[in-house]
Amino acid sequence: MLVLGIESSCDETSVAIVENGHKIISELTHSQIATHQVYGGVVPEIAAREHVLRIDHLIWSCLKNANLNWSDINRIAVVNGPGLVSSLLVGINAAKTLSWALNIELVSINHLKAHICANNLNKNPKDFLQESFICLLASGGHTQILQINNYQDIKILGQTIDDSAGEAFDKVARMLNLPYPGGPHIETLAKTGNKTIFKLPRAKVGEFDFSFSGLKTAVLRLIEKTGLENLNKADLAASFQEAVCHELADKLIKASLKNNCFDIVIAGGVSANQRLRELISEKANELNIGQKINIKAPFLNYCTDNGAMVAAAGYLCPESFGLDFGVYSRAK
Ligand code: KG4
Ligand code: ZN
Repeated sequence: MLVLGIESSCDETSVAIVENGHKIISELTHSQIATHQVYGGVVPEIAAREHVLRIDHLIWSCLKNANLNWSDINRIAVVNGPGLVSSLLVGINAAKTLSWALNIELVSINHLKAHICANNLNKNPKDFLQESFICLLASGGHTQILQINNYQDIKILGQTIDDSAGEAFDKVARMLNLPYPGGPHIETLAKTGNKTIFKLPRAKVGEFDFSFSGLKTAVLRLIEKTGLENLNKADLAASFQEAVCHELADKLIKASLKNNCFDIVIAGGVSANQRLRELISEKANELNIGQKINIKAPFLNYCTDNGAMVAAAGYLCPESFGLDFGVYSRAK
């Protein structure tokens, strides 16, 4: 089955054609990072306008690059939430128009489930997702530990009570005068730093919940007190990254142990972080479940927003069929 996936929930306009939920036939992305970087974050109105300017060309070029015709496409999949409403509307209107005009089946996709489905992209069948599993979903908008029995039966075991992990990376990066989005820049800088120099606080919240705002404020106070010019930015980046990734990895592994589920999946932009991936294995070894545990992660290119993950979800877990759906901003 060939699915054309469309992602426009935030600052990437991305389109891909994927076969049977895993094999990428064609993909094209226009990233708006350069546009929003001057503002230090995404400006919704500007994002929506850029999607409008790009989306048609991306869709047609994606089809052309694949040497396919519309009659070859079995399904169109589009993200309708959660995300920026004005940006989502651009994607769903393009998708609905194509579906109606060309008589191609249309499905709506949950952006968070699409991140999870990114785990199947370019993988071998033996490594495909297999329900049930425990999932850490860490992106710019969400941080959750989920128990996924199947794609319609998802239990939230814990989640952030304030900032998401990605948001914390972005805000601290801004304090360190690093560009948006901050995660990759902090990770690069942290490689040259000493993670043990700064003792940063860990929040005391529910068993599998997260809170990153205290950590963010602690970094801010440190900078205010000492002055950025007097601090070793690499050490601070490394200490901050360690604090966030330690929390994520620790709670993920404990959730796996408590629920007796040793299939673990990570997803979302922050899952690209190598230190996070290392720490998950380290924590599993510390708790003596390193041998039992099976950890899946998307290839690095598919951790952040992309159309291919939407097409993969279009094959695996559509939310609705037909034209009758709207958009929503917050996770349901
Ligand atoms: O999943 P995503 O592309 O967008 C949302 O759905 O929100 O995630 C973007 C977030 C940003 O906050 C970005 O800083 C973070 O993921 N991110 C990272 C890394 N790459 C992206 N955070 C930590 N380490 C990374 N390597
Ligand atoms: Zn995302």
